[in-house]
Amino acid sequence: MREFILRAQKAYTTEFNLDDLPNAGRIDLVCRCISNAVFLSNDLRRDTIIHVVLEGPKDPPKIISFNGNDLKDFYFDEKNIARIILKALKKGKGLKSGEEVEAHPGVKISKKSFEQLVKEKSQTQLIYLHEKGIDIREKEFKENVTFIFGDYTGIPKKTENFLDNNGAEKISISNKMLFASHCIVIVHNELDRKFLLS
Ligand SMILES: C[S@@+](CC[C@H](N)C(=O)[O-])C[C@H]1O[C@@H](n2cnc3c(N)ncnc32)[C@H](O)[C@@H]1O
Repeated sequence: MREFILRAQKAYTTEFNLDDLPNAGRIDLVCRCISNAVFLSNDLRRDTIIHVVLEGPKDPPKIISFNGNDLKDFYFDEKNIARIILKALKKGKGLKSGEEVEAHPGVKISKKSFEQLVKEKSQTQLIYLHEKGIDIREKEFKENVTFIFGDYTGIPKKTENFLDNNGAEKISISNKMLFASHCIVIVHNELDRKFLLS
């Protein structure tokens, strides 16, 4: 299984305007990441889950997880994905710490912190994406791997320390600073090629 964890530090955790996603703590960026993680041109990536950790106002944190194997009635464009996020936030209203509910086929929402989620994934190979990490092409990947990355605000130093202390490895995919949503496409392609050639 390939998993991605996006830490979206400003993304809204309560209602937002579907016609103004950038002003909802960059929900537009979150939607593009989800789309790039789970969609192929004519199919879904059934071996992929993306968890988006929303930490903006007014009820943080909330984690929404999209499982490519189980998604139904799900479309790739930003507005439709934002609609599902809104639906999940509505279902997730009042969740207590650690609780999780299904919001839509293949979509779950939980009241959990980024740190809790990373600890839960410690059985998988933990990688975090950082411009200054080691080159992704020098790395061997296990079947179960989790890639962690930041939004437009990046990965705070404190989070880097937490990830280092929890055994995550720092990997770079380019010497240029890329959009979060582009990183996902590159990671998928690197892994697709590695497993195709191996
Ligand atoms: C738009 S970038 C963050 C930009 C932010 N202003 C900063 O300085 O960190 C979003 C995320 O994509 C990932 N990323 C961007 N470029 C990368 C690269 N060349 N190698 C690995 N990860 C990268 C990192 O996880 C980063 O936090």
